[in-house]
Amino acid sequence: MKTIQIKTAIPGPKSRALIARKEAAVPRGPYLVAPVCAAKAEGAWIEDLDGNRYIDFAGGIGCLNMGHRAPSVDKAIREQLDKHLHLCFGVTPYEPYVALAEKLNALAPGKFPKKTFFVNTGAEAVENAIKIARAHTKRPAVICFEDAFHGRTFLAMSLTSKTNPYKLGFAPFATDIYRIPYAYCYRCSYNKTYPSCKIACAHHLEDTFRRVVAADSVAAVIAEPVLGEGGFVAPPPEFFPTLAEICKKHGIVFIADEVQSGIGRTGKFFAIEHYGVEPDIITTAKSLGGGLPIAAITGRAEIMDAPGPGGLGSTFAGNPASCAAALATIELLEKENLLARSTAIGRQFELRAKAWQKKWPLIGDIRGLGGMCAIELVRDPVTKEPADAETKELAHYCYEHGLITITAGTFNNVMRILVPLVVTDEQLEEAFAVLEAGLAHVAGMKQAVVSHA
Ligand SMILES: Cc1ncc(COP(=O)(O)O)c(C=O)c1O
Repeated sequence: MKTIQIKTAIPGPKSRALIARKEAAVPRGPYLVAPVCAAKAEGAWIEDLDGNRYIDFAGGIGCLNMGHRAPSVDKAIREQLDKHLHLCFGVTPYEPYVALAEKLNALAPGKFPKKTFFVNTGAEAVENAIKIARAHTKRPAVICFEDAFHGRTFLAMSLTSKTNPYKLGFAPFATDIYRIPYAYCYRCSYNKTYPSCKIACAHHLEDTFRRVVAADSVAAVIAEPVLGEGGFVAPPPEFFPTLAEICKKHGIVFIADEVQSGIGRTGKFFAIEHYGVEPDIITTAKSLGGGLPIAAITGRAEIMDAPGPGGLGSTFAGNPASCAAALATIELLEKENLLARSTAIGRQFELRAKAWQKKWPLIGDIRGLGGMCAIELVRDPVTKEPADAETKELAHYCYEHGLITITAGTFNNVMRILVPLVVTDEQLEEAFAVLEAGLAHVAGMKQAVVSHA
């Protein structure tokens, strides 16, 4: 039986009624991806209030690598509920927190001693990583990247690149933050081409130390190993080793923000493993909690111990149910070999996307790492004019036909794949068929507009 089942016009009457209540009761600030309201979800599907069933390519924005309500994760949460819930780790410590810290310390790249501290969200993890780097180096400045997304709290928002909607109207921002171009080869800021560019963007860091901020003032360089909200850009192999080497030379803490790319999304537990780099600090969140909120800051023990007792903390951080869920999530990833599954999903997507690109020049770029993959849509493959309206229409077509997707990119023209890694091949085929029909619809629409003109 097919997973996708569409029984009403989308949105159905019950979804429409709830959306009307939402609009009256909730501010317009939180974005609405699809006007379909969830009733239940399992594995890689979501059912709405009207009984329509969708394949989920969004995974709660990359939080469900292990799938909705994975049975072993559900069980671990229920078992923890029977023991205790909130205590506050700073008041009376408990075992699942320590066990999860030990697990992440062991999984993070590098044979050196590591320590892990938990918070609730990705933005908080980023904030704390910067606090720790500043306490360790006793320096103020932070270097981040164009097209980066690090969250919506004030420091995290200041590190985020895209202005509208993330920063517009929210100034002033945190000081001592400096931004340099990322290795976004499809739209290289230096108009160079890889590999003849010799990774000029990474070497630009040394130039920044001469022209913008002295290396001796820089506490940290923070980078996403694969851009998330910025459009699923995976830099060439030399990019991160070069950055990490420069950081090491100047005593700067290199932070890999793996909030979106971590926990198996790219075919390795941490995306930075693809680059052979051992970051000083790694931030994780999203899929770590198997659907519950938890985020982690994992790093070199001597750096993590820089803030004194009481310097770090948060009331709910490392909630026992979230820690139990995270331990079960990691066990599931290992037991079900979901890292290999991620790689396979990425390959299947790439094959399909290449065939689509032959038919439709609308697909300007196909990219990603493992199951963290995407297509960038352009109106013209030469000018690379971003096809933002077309991407929005594609997402619209998809949810009307049973596939929930989310877009990304500084230019709003990237269709990204964040499907739960437990998706079956049959479900993947169904989903690709919807995506393909959507691309045909959007490409046809564009041709109609052009021939009409
Ligand atoms: C790379 C990255 N860092 C940080 C964040 C912020 O995470 P949160 O929304 O949990 O605060 C995100 C969220 O999308 C992200 O993708």
